Amino acid sequence: MTSRLVYVCEGGDCTEKGSVELFEQLRNLLHEWDPKEEKIRVRKYPCFGGCEHGINITIWPDKIFYSHVKPEDLEDIAAHIKGGEPVQRLMGVVKPDVEEFIWQMLDCPY
Ligand code: FES
Repeated sequence: MTSRLVYVCEGGDCTEKGSVELFEQLRNLLHEWDPKEEKIRVRKYPCFGGCEHGINITIWPDKIFYSHVKPEDLEDIAAHIKGGEPVQRLMGVVKPDVEEFIWQMLDCPY
């Protein structure tokens, strides 16, 4: 079974908005639930191309693209990853072609 991946952008714009800290917080939240990353792995991604809408986080293969993510959104994102509903208020912000390009990139094994 392919394990799910959550990527937090570590590009320049997202880093300026605090994505390094956000990555640590999200990873800690998810590791409390899944300490060995058997259900989902938390990784950084160089840039999703939606820089003005950062901080951006994607979940693969779910094809969920979250934008304008703030620390106070992480509990809701973690709840979604654990089996809850996607966080609609953070979705559909970047253009569809930006999302589609990322899904094509992430679908390619490398
Ligand atoms: S810097 Fe985060 S999407 Fe480009």
